[in-house]
Amino acid sequence: MSFSRLWESLLPLGRNEHTGGYRRYTWTEADQQCRGWFRETAAARNLPVTPDNNGNLWAWWDPEGTRRPRRGSAARRRTGAIVTGSHLDSVPDGGAFDGPLGVVSGFAAVDLLRARGRVPVRPIAVAAFCEEEGARFGVACLGSKLLSGVVTPRAARALRDGTGVSWAEAMGAAGYDPSGLGPDDDLLAGIDAFVELHIEQGRALADPPGSALGIAEGIWPHGRWRFDFTGHADHAGTARLADRHDPMLPYATTVLAARDCADRLGTLATFGKIAAEPGGVNAVPSAVRAWLDARAPSDDGLSRTVAEIRAIAKQAAAGHGVQLTVTAESTATRVGFDLKLRDRVAGALAAAGIDAPVLPTGAGHDAGVLAARIPTAMLFVRNPTGVSHAPAEHAEPADCERGVQALAAVLEHLAC
Ligand code: GLV
Ligand code: MN
Ligand code: MN
Repeated sequence: MSFSRLWESLLPLGRNEHTGGYRRYTWTEADQQCRGWFRETAAARNLPVTPDNNGNLWAWWDPEGTRRPRRGSAARRRTGAIVTGSHLDSVPDGGAFDGPLGVVSGFAAVDLLRARGRVPVRPIAVAAFCEEEGARFGVACLGSKLLSGVVTPRAARALRDGTGVSWAEAMGAAGYDPSGLGPDDDLLAGIDAFVELHIEQGRALADPPGSALGIAEGIWPHGRWRFDFTGHADHAGTARLADRHDPMLPYATTVLAARDCADRLGTLATFGKIAAEPGGVNAVPSAVRAWLDARAPSDDGLSRTVAEIRAIAKQAAAGHGVQLTVTAESTATRVGFDLKLRDRVAGALAAAGIDAPVLPTGAGHDAGVLAARIPTAMLFVRNPTGVSHAPAEHAEPADCERGVQALAAVLEHLAC
């Protein structure tokens, strides 16, 4: 099936009709629809689907039936799998491409290889990792972090969404058993490479116009920190300014300081989510909870950025008689993708006549998590708007087709 028909079949799922953005949060109805789409798409291709114990989905093209050989065995050396894919979940009102482009392109690349009569000598899998965005439970790339042991099952089970539902409860309610959560070393040992295709999330390929595709060099260190400012609730019309312990004020200072700090240090700092409690228009809030997303070209730059913002927040909180606690919810150090695999990917693209510059990215990905356990690589598809995590995210159909061609060339080179 062509890329565009497959793409159209996923497009309506989880889209909000008012904003045009996607709300595909893990273990919700929209997520179940996307999982159904994944299963149907795989079934239509005769690719058996095996969910792993963490809720990630895997569709296998395994003509020789050699899937999941044991670590170190001779079979593994001959037949370690080549995996592609990405994620289907979204940020609140996210774009259509971040994640789904990689999954759809994976299936389309399988179609293309089959249409060309290619048969892999080792298994190929298309994977969809869950909770990549951490939009519901706060930890980015939770599916791949559980799979690779970066997050423990105990920590994951205890995560709660904004309404108090735990990961274990939500997973169970969606029909997936949370009792087996945790690393799957056998599954990882049977994979020789993971290649994730993803929309480019900035302007690197759009300005100036050049190549439609890029190859990832690495991922900036990044993370999320929750700032809890706790003050005293009071009446907005009667409490004297001098008597207030208003947590909104040190929060406001902190937001402005974050921007200034990122500007000075050449890093990025964003407060994109905030909750004021109890949330009365005519009351001084008792608490403000806000989430800092910070990213930097180096681990040191990230530490400095967060340390400076935290110090200013602490000082501002003290000045207003407000308590502050800062909690790291999700962090990732710098990732440099496997050089050997990158060279092989570049070689496969060059042989197919595809030009693709090497780019770093400030966005996080499951490929970055899995890079600690298996060789990983990424392909980027040009995004002419340069916008991502928003409905304006876009890739031209012709560039998506080029992405499929490139991914097929890579899979053919690695697996056929
Ligand atoms: C994921 O897309 C992230 O970079 O937050
Ligand atoms: Mn994203
Ligand atoms: Mn993504």
